[in-house]
Amino acid sequence: MLENLKKDDVIELVIDDIGAESSGIGRFNGEYVVFVPKSVPGDTVRVKIRKKKKKYAESTLLEIIQPSPFRIEPECEYFGTCNGCKMQHIEYAKQLEIKQSIVKNAFERIGGFENVTIPTVLGSEDIYYYRNKLEFSFSNDRWLTSEDMLIENIDKSFAVGYHIPGFNEKILDIRACYLQSLTTNKILNFTRDFFKPKGTSIYTTKTHSGYLRFLTVRKSIYNKGLMVNLITYDENAELVNEYAALLRQEIPEATTLVNSITQSKAQVALANNFNVIYGDGFIEEKIGGYRFKITPNTFFQTNSKQCEKLFETAATIADLGKEENVLDLYCGCGAISLYVSAMVKSVHGVELSNESIDMASENAELNGVNNCTFEAMDVKDYLEKLTASPGGEKFDVIILDPPRSGIHPKAAEYLLQYEAKKLIYVSCNPATQARDVALLKEKYNIISIQPVDMFPHTFHIENVVRLDLKG
Ligand SMILES: C[S@@+](CC[C@H](N)C(=O)[O-])C[C@H]1O[C@@H](n2cnc3c(N)ncnc32)[C@H](O)[C@@H]1O
Repeated sequence: MLENLKKDDVIELVIDDIGAESSGIGRFNGEYVVFVPKSVPGDTVRVKIRKKKKKYAESTLLEIIQPSPFRIEPECEYFGTCNGCKMQHIEYAKQLEIKQSIVKNAFERIGGFENVTIPTVLGSEDIYYYRNKLEFSFSNDRWLTSEDMLIENIDKSFAVGYHIPGFNEKILDIRACYLQSLTTNKILNFTRDFFKPKGTSIYTTKTHSGYLRFLTVRKSIYNKGLMVNLITYDENAELVNEYAALLRQEIPEATTLVNSITQSKAQVALANNFNVIYGDGFIEEKIGGYRFKITPNTFFQTNSKQCEKLFETAATIADLGKEENVLDLYCGCGAISLYVSAMVKSVHGVELSNESIDMASENAELNGVNNCTFEAMDVKDYLEKLTASPGGEKFDVIILDPPRSGIHPKAAEYLLQYEAKKLIYVSCNPATQARDVALLKEKYNIISIQPVDMFPHTFHIENVVRLDLKG
């Protein structure tokens, strides 16, 4: 009986599922959902009820009575506190199964599609050190872990690492992250050891002042290029030059250093102004034989190796032909456009960021590709223009790879009006993708779905869907 369950009750549960926010799910009386943080499907646990709601309860994990066969020891010392790799305690094969059901749930519950079959997720060969970009934030308000709290007089005034969700300015001071490379960890620790003893100020939104804001590291697997981007509130040439000289000496793998400057109140690691302190100010990556120049602000898929699998999947599902004209919406620096360029007649890429579009044209030139054109524009406005001139260019295939928020409802309306034969929707958020596909189902059938794991240990999953025009 549900009434029998109260706050502070201690109960035993078997975990049979996992929610998208990483808590395991057990069922009290075989029905009432109880979320259990840090648990794994298959665990038998003892928990204390923390909060009881109408449809579910939240609990605190007290004891793992019988560990799940899928439970493994996480590599990272910050597991459980850091918001990054929330599935590091689950065997990788099981992570892929969980992601498969995330996609299925999205299409059934959000998209309203019935009995959707989702194939096995294409896993990543590398499950550690797979990211080509990491972003660390500086803070003068360090988050203390339970171990940190045992240290007397611990200094909370300097941290560089990752955000704690729900605590705006609190940063978990990270010394080792398994997502990029040992060199990146060296750079992170070198940066802390350089600025902290100097008492360098850290930006805070409370006073809208302070020097250090973000540290971004982008690393190529193709040519071993490594770009350090120190994002600061203002310029301090003397300090940056001193940092640069030591960085070059201590970590020669850092091939270029950029100092980006932003006074924006938005806490995002982007800045229009940047000074190249040494090196080229960009790195180069190679996907499917094509070279890509990546500057500090250009979007680029963060798992280079798996990106190749993603593009290969999209191209295979699309079944592209030499006579087809392709429209690549949300094209970034032209990665998908160039990847498919040799398979089709022409590609036109559309993207909001001018910097990315400049990069896309430059990348086409760099690779001697001459059947791709690019245009900087909001996709919704572009599609409005396209549908308003029916006599204009006709695209056979439209590839869409929007940000996590998905496509604008108006863009979906224009796509329905335009009636391209095939739509290939690549998404890093199955929830918004399922919502958008539902908007298109009036004129399109789902032909295939294929999830690809670009982000092992996280709940993120990339998904490719092919939609064909009905009739
Ligand atoms: C997930 S990325 C895809 C990039 C590219 N397809 C790739 O694989 O490298 C999404 C891109 O959409 C762009 N974007 C976001 N909102 C947009 C909009 N309303 N119109 C056009 N582009 C947009 C972003 O700048 C970003 O480059």
